[in-house]
Amino acid sequence: MHREAVGFWDGVLGTVQVKTPDPATDILLNGWLLYQSLACRYWARSAFYQASGAYGFRDQLQDAMSLSVPMPALARAHILRAASRQFVEGDVQHWWFPIAGQGVRTRISDDRAWLATVAAHYVETTGDAAILDEPVSFLDGPALREGEHDLYFQPGEADESAPLFEHCARGLDLSLATGAHGLPLIGTGDWNDGMNRVGEAGRGESVWLGWFLYAALLAFAPIAERRGEGRRAATWTAHAEALRAALDREAWDGAWYRRGYYDDGAPLGSSTSEECRIDSIAQSWAAISGAADPARAVQAMESLDRMLVHRGDRLALLFTPPFDKTPLDPGYIKGYPPGIRENGGQYTHAAAWSIMGFAALGQGDKAHELFALLNPINHTATRAGVLRYKVEPYVVAADVYSVAPHVGRGGWTWYTGSAGWLYRAGIESILGLKVKGDRFEVAPCLPTAWPGFEMTLTLHGSAYEIVVRNPAGVSRGVVAVEVDGETQPVVDGKAVIGLGADSARRRVVVTLG
Ligand code: GLC
Repeated sequence: MHREAVGFWDGVLGTVQVKTPDPATDILLNGWLLYQSLACRYWARSAFYQASGAYGFRDQLQDAMSLSVPMPALARAHILRAASRQFVEGDVQHWWFPIAGQGVRTRISDDRAWLATVAAHYVETTGDAAILDEPVSFLDGPALREGEHDLYFQPGEADESAPLFEHCARGLDLSLATGAHGLPLIGTGDWNDGMNRVGEAGRGESVWLGWFLYAALLAFAPIAERRGEGRRAATWTAHAEALRAALDREAWDGAWYRRGYYDDGAPLGSSTSEECRIDSIAQSWAAISGAADPARAVQAMESLDRMLVHRGDRLALLFTPPFDKTPLDPGYIKGYPPGIRENGGQYTHAAAWSIMGFAALGQGDKAHELFALLNPINHTATRAGVLRYKVEPYVVAADVYSVAPHVGRGGWTWYTGSAGWLYRAGIESILGLKVKGDRFEVAPCLPTAWPGFEMTLTLHGSAYEIVVRNPAGVSRGVVAVEVDGETQPVVDGKAVIGLGADSARRRVVVTLG
């Protein structure tokens, strides 16, 4: 039994192993982050700080993205499971209990776009487009009444069932409504659950959701196209373009992007706001989505860096200042003490997106600096650090407090989606490894001081020893690729290597310059 368990973990965690100039980075990427993601987030769905057991609609879907290379069957099963928690109308259970399936129907906006996002990512990673044809039933249950925000009940299975594709598409189709600024309606919350009253009257808008939806629509439109759903694909592509234009026109605050608009049109996350003046996820996703004007994306990330990353305190805040005295009512987030959890603390999930934002702009120094700043090993490297941080050095904390007397104290550990996103930020955004069906790509975005790094990818019975060299001290730009000593072409600035199923051992040398 013990041998089996060890063998299992060696297999999962051994899929990708890295050796970089930073051992603390290696310790997280070679085991702990994926262990946290799989054992705690995906399997247990429970920890000391939240004894839950429920599935969160967006939560385990995001975790599944981090597991789609080492455990594609798990990712597949979960995508289909999540699809089965969608109502005929296209909205979903925000969270539900397994077995009987009780859960909550809400007006939260972003849940509806996660299924398509994660399914598109799964299909790209595994090449398994057949998942889109899997029949999945819908749920049936009472609609929310006028003015009702949510309803907890045990829904029944609807008579209707449809291929996974249709579930994804229905979620996107339901996400196309916009408000006075042409931005998506935030409903009773987007990714930030605590901002549940920004748009409760049905008019408030979300800038973050604009970036996220833009990316979701463009990721899923080609899938629709390939399935002969050209009209849907065209609608989504046109909507993505309209969102891009609206974001460009209505979301820029002068030095960063606003976070959204309240029901009454007051801006959220603006230099004119007393509290929550700048919110990190409106900046990071401007860069990640690729939708923002490039010069503005750079300036937005500079503002994030300047106002939200506190190097001395080792914190990367979600937004600042925290909600406290404003007469505006963003929602239950204001009920948290200032500097705790979503209320202007470090929310590590969002901070992982900031790493990805820097990497999307090619800023490898910033990306790894932030990764190291979030790394719990570095929080606890000294006695003073241990006494301040107070929580485990080997798992990520969902939040780190930002206001005295608790500055730098780790909050809720283990049960956090930041584990999966930090893993992806490290492996994909910094080290640049992306598996795409029958091939993999290497396009790192490194700190300029790194002379290179090594990693191994063991997949489908073959092993690839990848050596990345950085003789010129750049952040990105692949200039040469060799496989077993033979030169290969550089494709769009990346190394692109075919994945065989031939039990081979190949040596891949990638040179940056
Ligand atoms: C919690 C929720 C997650 C949400 C996040 C930010 O981690 O589980 O769904 O996105 O908080 O509010």
